[in-house]
Amino acid sequence: MRVAVTGANGLLGGAAVAQLAGRHDVLAVGRGACRLPAGAFAWADADLGDGRSVEAALRDFRAEAVLHAGAMTDVDGCEREPEAAWCVNVGGTEQVARACRALGARLVAVSTDYVFDGEAGPYGEEDVPNPRGAYARSKRCGEEAALLLAPDCAVARVAVVYSGRPGAKSTFATQVVEKLSRGEVVKAFSDQIVSPTLAENGAAMTLELLLEHDSRGVFHTAGATALDRVDFARRVAARFGLDGEIVPVRTADVKLLAPRPLRAGLRVDRARALLSEQPLAIEAALDLFHRQWSARSAQ
Ligand SMILES: NC(=O)c1ccc[n+]([C@@H]2O[C@H](COP(=O)([O-])OP(=O)(O)OC[C@H]3O[C@@H](n4cnc5c(N)ncnc54)[C@H](OP(=O)(O)O)[C@@H]3O)[C@@H](O)[C@H]2O)c1
Repeated sequence: MRVAVTGANGLLGGAAVAQLAGRHDVLAVGRGACRLPAGAFAWADADLGDGRSVEAALRDFRAEAVLHAGAMTDVDGCEREPEAAWCVNVGGTEQVARACRALGARLVAVSTDYVFDGEAGPYGEEDVPNPRGAYARSKRCGEEAALLLAPDCAVARVAVVYSGRPGAKSTFATQVVEKLSRGEVVKAFSDQIVSPTLAENGAAMTLELLLEHDSRGVFHTAGATALDRVDFARRVAARFGLDGEIVPVRTADVKLLAPRPLRAGLRVDRARALLSEQPLAIEAALDLFHRQWSARSAQ
């Protein structure tokens, strides 16, 4: 099958391309040059914010299925530049959805737990979004654009994505490992409940949803464990055998540009019931993360 992945240089998109390569005819779509290890896929340099180049790339490829994982994910950056956030996260998703509509392609658009206000999580798919801040609002509007414009579409929400694979970008989880390894203190929010999602697990679930199901609507394809960030940091430290100081801080005490949902996290019962690729509990996800990290350190 001809499968395209946007955001291919990203945490989730990169994991998806690695899982697809060699099994399908794959177009990896990203901004600028490819930063993935060489593999059995074609690369298209296309900007989600320019109004048409991603749409053109998908049409030229004659995509049959599209995993849309590209997005402006810098939450405070979106708050600083709401127009850019809108262009990429809404306009870019609109481009992808229009191409899918024209091609009759199935679409899975990746979204976020930030569509919820964080008053009463963890949230199920039936809970009503109430996004706060530019990133959250643009992602919620992107969900609607995808669901409205692409007839065969599912939205897959993930949260706090991380990966230990070589070349994957720095995240809270990798910073915990790096800082504690250097003997530095780690600060972690004690009042933010999250559902950390190992990119490779999120990619496997979203790809199964894309390629092996025709279910439409919203699915939560996050990790199976909701916990606060201090607990997350402590579990990362324990899995890596790292001692060191993890200092709890409260969100209100740190100057952040964009609002953060506090009691967030995603319930994953729907994904559990539908998918063979199961949302991983934190222990299993951290085992994989540790293995990725050890392989990367050995290189
Ligand atoms: N990261 C998280 O914690 C998190 C949490 C919840 C939901 N999500 C969602 O999960 C999906 C995948 O994100 P991720 O975790 O893989 O984050 P990521 O690593 O930041 O990946 C996003 C990708 O989108 C690309 N991108 C940004 N602006 C673009 C533009 N104008 N044109 C083309 N590509 C552009 C980025 O390119 P560059 O690599 O060149 O910057 C990056 O490769 C997104 O929908 C995101 O909103 C992420």
